[in-house]
Amino acid sequence: MNRASALAHPNIALVKYWGKQAGNHNIPATPSLSVTLDTLTTRTSVCESERDRVEINGSLVSDKKIEDFLVMLRAAHPLPPLLIESSNNFPTNAGLASSASGFAGLLTAIDAAFGLQMSPSERSIWARRGSGSAARSVFGGFVSLEETNGDWFARSILPMEAWALKVVVAITSETAKDVGSTEGMRRSEETSPYYSGWTESTKSDHAAGLSAVSHQDFSRLASIAESSCLKMYALMLSSRPPLFYWNGATLETISAVRELRNGGVPVFFTVDAGPQVKAICQDTVADVVVERLSRVPGVLRTLVCGLGPGAYVD
Ligand code: DP6
Repeated sequence: MNRASALAHPNIALVKYWGKQAGNHNIPATPSLSVTLDTLTTRTSVCESERDRVEINGSLVSDKKIEDFLVMLRAAHPLPPLLIESSNNFPTNAGLASSASGFAGLLTAIDAAFGLQMSPSERSIWARRGSGSAARSVFGGFVSLEETNGDWFARSILPMEAWALKVVVAITSETAKDVGSTEGMRRSEETSPYYSGWTESTKSDHAAGLSAVSHQDFSRLASIAESSCLKMYALMLSSRPPLFYWNGATLETISAVRELRNGGVPVFFTVDAGPQVKAICQDTVADVVVERLSRVPGVLRTLVCGLGPGAYVD
């Protein structure tokens, strides 16, 4: 019986991906740059079954993204019907990139169970077809997703041990978002007057982000990442109907991060398609950041992550 399981971690984009190129292969409209986390974990196992079944956190689900993904994968690699079991130790669909760790882990488990012998770049390409951000969770530490030799896959740009950063996640809501990333991106592309400015400026943000990471220049990375996040949110707000992913506590938390930094604490914020705030800081100040963000009204709890590895067979 072919069976394997894999562990994968979410990643947090510092230069964001929001928008797709035309076509069916889920090719991003812009390059992106992220950090893979530790602590938050998705465990995915696959084995042969009589028919396809997907269980997420113990419940049988029908997931169109996974179904479409399996159709694409089977066109290249004949696979039997699968039982896929995936569980997260963090809230699903609330802007913590569960689809990233989900597809990176799924691909890694399928590759191992059926001996597909994919290279990490090939796994990243396939994971991207499932969910763009998943391409990055195949790798650990600092990761870039960009076009290389005519295809889009991620690569590691700095190993996780090289720069001791922490990510403090301030949870401000545990409910699932009402507009998923795929639909949100389509809406922004079709309706936001800022879309072309977004795609153009993200290319130079990505180049500047790569340089800031390679020099381990915290303040330059902070400025690039916060600007990318706020530009993405401007794009979301200017879409019609608008995409509101933040709540009041999201803004209060961002203010608290800015205050900390103005007071000399090396920390910056980023937010994705959800209300949670991720505060990236030097590891020496993580306790200060946790203490301050825990006191923000509306913050339900905080999680502290370091930088983690790419998806691996467990
Ligand atoms: C805001 O990777 O979830 O987190 O490719 O449609 O599955 P699909 O989108 P997804 O989008 C991630 C959007 C983001 C920014 C980012 O992670 O770069």
